[in-house]
Amino acid sequence: MTTRYRVEYALKTHRRDQFIEWIKGLLAVPFVLYSQPNGIFEGQGLSSLTKTREEAHRRYSEILRDVELMIDDHIAHQNDPENPFPSKLKLLVPTIGPFFTRLPLEAAFKYQDRKRYISSRRFVSPSFNDVRLILNSAQIMAVTTYGTLQLATFDGDVTLYDDGQSLEPASPVIAPLLDLLSKNVKIGIVTAAGYTTADRYYARLHGLLDAIANSPDLTPTQKASLIIMGGEANYLFEFSLASPYYLAPVAREKWLTPEMALWDERDIVSVLDVAEEALGDCIKTLNLPAVLMRKDRAVGIIPSDPSIRIPRESLEETVLVVQKTLELSSAGRHRRVPFCAFNGGNDVFVDIGDKSWGVTVCQRWFGAAGGGPGSKIIRGENTLHVGDQFLSAGANDFRARSVGTTAWIASPAETVDLLDELADLMGKKLS
Ligand code: IMP
Ligand code: MG
Repeated sequence: MTTRYRVEYALKTHRRDQFIEWIKGLLAVPFVLYSQPNGIFEGQGLSSLTKTREEAHRRYSEILRDVELMIDDHIAHQNDPENPFPSKLKLLVPTIGPFFTRLPLEAAFKYQDRKRYISSRRFVSPSFNDVRLILNSAQIMAVTTYGTLQLATFDGDVTLYDDGQSLEPASPVIAPLLDLLSKNVKIGIVTAAGYTTADRYYARLHGLLDAIANSPDLTPTQKASLIIMGGEANYLFEFSLASPYYLAPVAREKWLTPEMALWDERDIVSVLDVAEEALGDCIKTLNLPAVLMRKDRAVGIIPSDPSIRIPRESLEETVLVVQKTLELSSAGRHRRVPFCAFNGGNDVFVDIGDKSWGVTVCQRWFGAAGGGPGSKIIRGENTLHVGDQFLSAGANDFRARSVGTTAWIASPAETVDLLDELADLMGKKLS
């Protein structure tokens, strides 16, 4: 029998971020108590509305300061392996993970309130997107204020360009990316798109690659500070003026981490075999207008005709079925080889490895090349991964959270806003 619990779980948990929902719930209380929806028909003057806004602003700020302090306490717990007890935050939000930096949430709220007029709203309470953007701003402030940003990694689809599209020369994201390189920040594009040859990545990223190649301002070292980590963690290319398509493939033995080097080819094949069978079953049971696509490090389903949209529910069901099947299979159960099943918007893929490995490879690649003496890896607090997929199931950027700080954007335009905010803060720090 399908219990209510299972229905709730299947329908909701994988589509919610518990930390964001929890903060939203805290902010809903002052919203209910202090916003004055009756103000519009009771003829309250502008001064009374200003007062209401100031009161809401003060209460929201206080709450975010309290959460900020709770995160500080959580970090203290995290740094004290002797302490067997969970932090208060862990008790309140059991899914909370590690933090690489403290988060100046109060300051970030004030910044976003100036942009989004959150405290001025009388009918619409602080939303998921408000909280997500406050967390992003806090993270950007933290990586620039408490330390130095050394590595920025970016997802591809939805983050740098629209889903399934390419980074064209007119894209507004190119200038801020070049600006980051000019400030000696390393860039990794950590995408699920898995291609074995440079021409395919050039087709997706040519706007950026051409702009770097032709930039009169970037030094050769800055130009070489871009790498592409494709297939989550399977194919590495470095920018190279001398190579066709400006991309030089790097042999696996040059960049695999010691743990990755232990992944056995037979385990990889059996994970993909199990996934392929489960995906094939989903095509049949859900009557999906899709075909299988098997690659050497991934297997997926894509629409049988590019003009077809597969229903979101079918994509999510497929991800959850494949994920569960793999977890219960002997290939997946021992997790000798990590995998990542995710909903790509109009396709589902299971990749070998995941973005935590992809970002780790970037941290090691640039750490070994450019870090100071003794530094062999760029640390999590000096790394920022920007992506659009941060739900805990069926999303591939989520895994990057375990190795660095992250920002959760919802469109390429938001990535541009985020990078502008970042440039602003880095500029202020320099001056
Ligand atoms: P991302 O958003 O940059 O991580 O790219 C995800 C998209 O890349 C997926 O939705 C697929 O459409 C596409 N893709 C192409 N090849 C692969 C692959 O081998 N594995 C996963 N996704 C792939
Ligand atoms: Mg994406």
